[in-house]
Amino acid sequence: MLDKKMQAALGEQATKEFYSAYLYMAMASHLEAQVLPGLAKWMRVQAQEESCHALIFFNYICERGSKVELGVIKAPPKDFKSVTEVFKHTVAHEREVTASIHGIAELAASIKDHATKQFLEWFVAEQVEEENAAETMLRQAARLEDDKALFLLDKEASARVFVLPAPLAGKV
Ligand SMILES: [Fe+2]
Ligand SMILES: [Fe+2]
Repeated sequence: MLDKKMQAALGEQATKEFYSAYLYMAMASHLEAQVLPGLAKWMRVQAQEESCHALIFFNYICERGSKVELGVIKAPPKDFKSVTEVFKHTVAHEREVTASIHGIAELAASIKDHATKQFLEWFVAEQVEEENAAETMLRQAARLEDDKALFLLDKEASARVFVLPAPLAGKV
């Protein structure tokens, strides 16, 4: 069984990951409305990954014999001023998630919960990739000077495909 504080922190993180999926679907919706299907697809894949992250936390809490306590998912923003704004928000959000995961890793260390500390290592590495991917998109979006460049970025973004995260292999 998980320590009560840890159970709450992991349940909260599962909720945050579900919110991430919700936020990225809001961005996908905005991009679809802007007729940018490639970038919208990039965001749909991002949202799928976030749902998987939520599920990984969910499964882990169950595996430890504890109950998953899910919280309230707030409404995501509806409108964004530009594609650059979308990716600025993405980068800021991913940094928040990283800080949240680091906070749980610190809690795990302080209560000597070695299993949770090891479990979180996958997420610590994943966040490095997530921040990097979002920052790359932001730098590319910020460089766009015209609609033609945006069209090309949209085409490139459409190549992103969903890959099931390793911790879920054989579990969904
Ligand atoms: Fe995530
Ligand atoms: Fe993420």
